[in-house]
Amino acid sequence: MRRIGSKSSKTDMKQNNPFVRADVVILAALAMFAMCAAHGEGSVLLEEGWRFAKVASPNADWSVETFDDSGWERVRVPHDWAIEGPFDESSKDGDTGKLPWRGVGMYRRRFVVSERDAAGTVALDFDGVMARPKVYVNGKLAGGWDYGYQSFRVDATPFVLPGTNLLAVVADTRRHRSRWYPGGGINRKVVLKTLPKAHFVHNGIAVTTPVAERERAVVRVRWETTNAVESAQVKVRLLLAGVEKARRATNAAKGEMVFELKAPQLWDVDSPCLYNAECTLSSGGETATETVRFGVRKIAFPVGAGADANAWEKNGFHLNGRRVQLKGVNLHEDMGLLGRVYCRSAVRRQLLQMKDMGANALRTSHNPVAPETLDLCDELGILVWDECFDKWDDTASRFPEEPLEPYIERNLREFVRRDRNHPSVIAWSMGNEIGGCVGDKKDFTHDPDGMTRERCARFRDAMRREDDTRPIGNGNMPHVAKDEFFDMEIWRDLDITGWNYLGSHEKAKAKYPAKPVIYTESASAGSTYGFYAGPSTKPYGYRAGAESAAKQMDSYDLGTTIDIADIEFDRMERSPWCAGEFVWTGIDYLGEPIPFRTEARSSYFGIVDLTGVPKDRYWLYRAYWNKKSETVHILPHWNWKGREGEKIPVFVYTSGDAAELFINGKSQGMRRKGACDLPGGRTNACYQVCGKYRLMWFDTIYEPGEVKAVAYRNGTRIGEAVVRTAGDPVALKLTQGYDDGMYSFFQIDAVDSDGVRNPLAMNRISLSVSGPGRIVAVGNGNPREMTSFADASAHSLFFGKAVAVVRRDAPGVITLAAAADGLKPAVDKR
Ligand code: GAL
Repeated sequence: MRRIGSKSSKTDMKQNNPFVRADVVILAALAMFAMCAAHGEGSVLLEEGWRFAKVASPNADWSVETFDDSGWERVRVPHDWAIEGPFDESSKDGDTGKLPWRGVGMYRRRFVVSERDAAGTVALDFDGVMARPKVYVNGKLAGGWDYGYQSFRVDATPFVLPGTNLLAVVADTRRHRSRWYPGGGINRKVVLKTLPKAHFVHNGIAVTTPVAERERAVVRVRWETTNAVESAQVKVRLLLAGVEKARRATNAAKGEMVFELKAPQLWDVDSPCLYNAECTLSSGGETATETVRFGVRKIAFPVGAGADANAWEKNGFHLNGRRVQLKGVNLHEDMGLLGRVYCRSAVRRQLLQMKDMGANALRTSHNPVAPETLDLCDELGILVWDECFDKWDDTASRFPEEPLEPYIERNLREFVRRDRNHPSVIAWSMGNEIGGCVGDKKDFTHDPDGMTRERCARFRDAMRREDDTRPIGNGNMPHVAKDEFFDMEIWRDLDITGWNYLGSHEKAKAKYPAKPVIYTESASAGSTYGFYAGPSTKPYGYRAGAESAAKQMDSYDLGTTIDIADIEFDRMERSPWCAGEFVWTGIDYLGEPIPFRTEARSSYFGIVDLTGVPKDRYWLYRAYWNKKSETVHILPHWNWKGREGEKIPVFVYTSGDAAELFINGKSQGMRRKGACDLPGGRTNACYQVCGKYRLMWFDTIYEPGEVKAVAYRNGTRIGEAVVRTAGDPVALKLTQGYDDGMYSFFQIDAVDSDGVRNPLAMNRISLSVSGPGRIVAVGNGNPREMTSFADASAHSLFFGKAVAVVRRDAPGVITLAAAADGLKPAVDKR
């Protein structure tokens, strides 16, 4: 058990915070097993000390003190019981990752409450338990929740006793439905919170900024309390970087305060400045403090009319008075090799990478994310389309026999109350692809399981009661974009509509010209890191032949199940009234391996692979989206032994407008972005559009050596890239990537005698660690890999690389060693 702080401030909680000095984190980690009592107001992270068992069905006996759990596994929470596998290769269910996530998991742990705290309020805050959690305290059912992605609080006060208490949690995924890997168990953090009897209601403080200008801001703080006496006082202080900017007090136990700030520091994508509202309730001689972080910022989704209907500055999304085009990614909450064990470090690594690519927005597809993810978006200046459900009737975790309305409404309300203070959140989405159709049903207006106008209005109102500062909408599926669906009025009461694929946002705009539009899913292109089948003369779709034989997708980035990146860039340029796009997806995730749904276990859609390593497509997006750094990237690799003298096309992704290509010093000509003029009859629309965003040499002849691209903008050289033919691998190489003192991500490559990375190496590797750390996961970018991520000595490099995740447990030198038969080992000490 780790003591976090004596105040109940969310921002006091330093667990997993990479800004905290590593030694502080480590000292705290060393105290993990120490039981310590909370005094008065406090928060304790229930991280270590859990016992876990997977069982056939829940059994009430396991929640009582006398039950002997000594045979159960010791685990740390967050925990995902399925991620270590084994993968079931023979399973046809690639869509949920071929992992054993279905079943019942039982957790037990003791916690200590002092006599004084037991006389107050004792709460257990769960950020999310997959699925249908039931929480028992000292053998009695104390609470639970019905949606695995939702955060919830259990009031344990009536059940706790001074001294040691027993907490037992059952998670049941047997009837959970999912279209991706959902994991199983207590996969987000759990906090024991002790509060005075009178305190602020859970998620009961809301901070808004009705005026947010450079000269002046108005900040409104609303609160709800419970058990406060009549003479109670509420004091609110607004702080910026710890410095008090305003302070007021009132005698209203439930109410609001309005503050005026002169020359506020605005929250923006490039300067995500954050304030704190420290709220203190004094009642009957006790005080309770809750600190809420917020940002001063103004958002709008204006819709230009008449002559302004197509003017960029009069449409789209506006932040602090100027248009900001949403360059977004969809991400499932999937920590790659860590599965659904929520890890702030892993998510921070993902978001930093998306930012480097030039993305400024995240769609939380298709469920509430852990609160730390939104904290990170606040800190990094990432705009969020915050989404609560996937398909109400189908994969929203609802049991079909339960009535839809109360379930959806209750969860939407909790979702908004938890997330409404995050400045990064700019829109609410009640769900993905709930567009009124189930299977082959045709009656879209009256389908009882799907979306109706009445339901949209009802849920919108429920959400608006908790927050009236953001537009409320949903994401709609492509086939509802057929003309007949637009004759219906089901979208009429939404503030904003999101559209997935095929330019469906254009039809929405035509039908509802006054309603803001977002392209919630674009592309759905696929590729496999390092795999090249050769670009097609037939631009769309994956191809028979090399791709289907290998069950991999070609990395020339023309393979797709819907559209390629370039087509969507072009669409956005032609849709000035659309706030922007969210690519499906920024990063690969476990499950949904379309088009090889039965053969593979993780997706091909990611711009970045499951290990967190960029695929070629990353550089295509970066070249177009990232306006701050230059990009010059060459594909493919240049190791084509046996294909000497054959045509191997070369593509260059660059932020420049032109590049000259050289093979072994011989110029292959200069190409410029613009209308594509390609030899070999490649004149179809797809290649025409690609010519605007990438430079392609289709007739380059392979000879071993060096390929070099020199890129220009307006005739000025902006940079170059080089790819060399590698010889046989002779050694392994370890390169440290993301590291925040707690988690380190290492890439393992095989190199030749000159240190050149071999892009084809598939050597089996073995990793070991010594010192106060451990390898928590190893993996490669192969969506068909079936080796457990927990096995450090059975993975192979895949197209030259693998990734290992190392966790530090205590201060001291950690040594990571990588070995492979016939190769010189690599060692990293830090
Ligand atoms: C969308 C859906 C996503 C994902 C994607 C794959 O229709 O919303 O969750 O399934 O298709 O292309």
